[in-house]
Order: sequence, then structure tokens, then C-alpha cells
Amino acid sequence: MTDPGFELDELFIPAAPGKPGWADFEAAASVAATVEAEGYGGHELTLSAAESLPEWLNQTWQPRRLFVARQDGRIVARGVYETLADESITHAWIAVQVLADRRRHGIGTALFDHLEAIAMAESRLSLIVYTVSPEAESPRLHAQTGFGSVPLGNPEVKFLIGRGYRLEQVVRTSRLDLPCDPDTVERLRVTAALKAGPDYAVLCWSDHTPPDRLADLAVLRTRMTTDAPSAGLEEPEDVWTAARVTAEENAAAQSPRSTLTAAALHRPSGRLVGFTELSVPQETARAVLQEDTLVLREHRGHRLGLLLKATNLQRLERERPGHPSVMTFNAEENRPMLSVNEAMGFRPMGQEGAWRKCAAGPVSAAAGSAGTGGRTDS
Ligand SMILES: CC(C)(COP(=O)(O)OP(=O)(O)OC[C@H]1O[C@@H](n2cnc3c(N)ncnc32)[C@H](O)[C@@H]1OP(=O)(O)O)[C@@H](O)C(=O)NCCC(=O)NCCS
Repeated sequence: MTDPGFELDELFIPAAPGKPGWADFEAAASVAATVEAEGYGGHELTLSAAESLPEWLNQTWQPRRLFVARQDGRIVARGVYETLADESITHAWIAVQVLADRRRHGIGTALFDHLEAIAMAESRLSLIVYTVSPEAESPRLHAQTGFGSVPLGNPEVKFLIGRGYRLEQVVRTSRLDLPCDPDTVERLRVTAALKAGPDYAVLCWSDHTPPDRLADLAVLRTRMTTDAPSAGLEEPEDVWTAARVTAEENAAAQSPRSTLTAAALHRPSGRLVGFTELSVPQETARAVLQEDTLVLREHRGHRLGLLLKATNLQRLERERPGHPSVMTFNAEENRPMLSVNEAMGFRPMGQEGAWRKCAAGPVSAAAGSAGTGGRTDS
């Protein structure tokens, strides 16, 4: 696929930082970081190339492909295609970022055309796009959920509407400034522990789930894919097993980041019924990311979400002090989770639109290669 002025290329994923393919991989990560920082007004959510590499190398359950657009040999845009290994799953996730000074030349269209063609060729007919929408003075486009909206005049909004995507959900990004008031967090934790009562206890670990809890964590991770509000996105169940939890944790251990987990134990059954995770960068000057939080439906209403989050936050301050903030993402319609976060002091700082397009059906597409270069392996 060629177009005057730029060419598309699929990148080979390097085996490790510094190995063949690393310079291009890093350049593509830098494009994503630049565009995301523009959308959020800063780099707090940026992952380094080294931090994201492990998930690119771990393709067993969530295959991903990385494409770039080059102009004069320089990478100026990237496109990501992601799906689940299960061929019966009809969803694919697409992301495209074009450097600001290279927009309106058809690069975004060319990347989307190619990624959508791959999806059609694989019969993945339900296409999902998550993208940051910076605030702007503009009429609003409201999400199908009725909660949240994005500026209608934004380029990404016009672009996605033009391609037939529908705004299903708005996801709020929030920040908690650190250090937070220790008395407030302790009060919240104690109140939540009293409400939860003696049937529940909190277990904590870092990076690797204890072997006797792997099966429970697999259930929680599976339920995370269906129990979090996903509006009209209808995101599919992604099944985890204990073996997968171990394998994914081993893969993640190659990242410079570490994970702090707090889990809720239901004493009468001896099972884990909830968990929350913080992803901590090595550098103390960078923000911590709040990752998954889930309490199984049948154990909700006992303040376990607040208990888990307050406990994990106290651990963070004790074991890894000095980070400036914690960042989190929540669906605008997820009032229970937003309330927990607001009680802890999280404040809104941005938003992402979650868009979906249901395509018509398989088309014959040259999905195996892109551009004149095809798959680059050097
Ligand atoms: C959205 C984005 C990918 C578009 O990339 P691009 O290379 O500028 O897109 P194109 O040049 O192919 O634009 C295609 C059409 O989208 C619409 N569009 C794109 N930007 C627009 C803008 N600023 N205002 C109005 N319409 C716009 C137009 O209809 C345009 O066609 P036209 O130029 O012939 O009028 C780019 O703005 C971007 O990277 N934004 C930040 C990241 C992001 O939000 N990605 C979106 C989905 S993952």
C-alpha cells in the first residue's frame, strides 16, 4: 500500500531493548507518547518503550501487530491492531496516532484502512477504539450510555464519526496527588474494614501471585473482562487459567515496572473475591498507574473496593514512597467505583472516548503485509 508522501510498514518486535528492531520500536513508542501527552497535557500516563515491550513479546493470548507510517525515512505515525487469540472472538481493538504536524495528509486514513482490512480478513467484525479527547470549546457529543461527552469539534471525533464509529462510552481519567493525607486513608480503610466485617481479610503481594491463589486470581481476571461496565462495546470474555496468570506474570517481570496487589479473602469459602493492582514505575518522579480493580458481584456492597484500594495505597506510601501521583481510568457510568476514588481524593484530569463500529463482513484484503516494506525483520 503506498500513497504519495508516506509509506506504511509493519514492525518486527525486538527481542529486548537494543536488539534488532529496537530503534524503530522506540521511535513508534515515542510517536504514541508525544500524541498521548498532547491529549492529556503531560506525560503522566506515558509508558516507555522498555515498559511496553514485554506485552508486545507476549502474543499467546492477545496477538498484537504494530504498523508505522514513514515520511522521508522518519516514523511519523503508528497503528496498533490487537485481538484475542480465540478465533471465534469477533472483536479487534485499533489505535492510530499521527504526529500533529503530519495530520490531514491521509496518514490516519491509510493506517485505519489497513488495520480494518486485517480485522475484516480475520472476521473480526466488531472494531473498538479507545482514544483521548482533550477538552475544547465545542458542542458536545454524548456517549450512548448517557454518561459523559466529548467535544464534537475535536479532530479524532470528526475522524471517527467520519469512519462510521459510534461513541459508546466515556472513560474518565483521574489523578490522586501524593502523598495523600494518611489520616484520611486510614479512616477510610478502618471504616471499610468494619463494614466488611470478620468474614473478609486482605492479602497483599508484589509481582507474583502466591501459588495457592493462582486459580482464584484466574477467576478474578476472567470476570474482570465481563464484570466491569463495558456499555455498548460488548467486549468479549477473555478466559484466564492459573497457568496463564503465571505465564503473564513471568512476561511482565521483564518490564522495569512492578505491581502491588491487594486481594480480598472471603474466609468462610477460603476464596479470593476481589483484587486491586498498582503498577509502579522504577523512577520515583513518575506517576503510579492504578490497574484493574474488581469485586465479584456476589460480594459487592461490603466496602471491599474501598478496603482494597486504601490498603494498597498505604502499602505504596510505605514500600515505594516518593511518587507524585496515582492515575486511574473509570467508565463515567461506573458510579460505585468513581465514588470510591473520589472519597480517596482522586480528581478528574481527562477523558477517553470508547468507540465501536460493527463492520459488514469479511472482505478480500491483503492483510498479511503492509506497504512496500512488508514485515521488517532487521
Ligand atoms: C485522528 C487522527 C488519527 C487523524 O489522522 P490524520 O492523518 O490527520 O487523518 P486524515 O488526514 O486521514 O483525515 C481523514 C479525515 O478525518 C477528518 N478529520 C481529521 N482531522 C480533522 C480535523 N482536525 N478537523 C476536521 N476533520 C478532521 C476529515 O474528514 C479528514 O478528511 P479531509 O482531510 O479530507 O477533510 C489524528 O488526528 C491523531 O493522531 N489524533 C490523535 C490520536 C487519536 O485521537 N487517534 C484516533 C483514533 S485511535
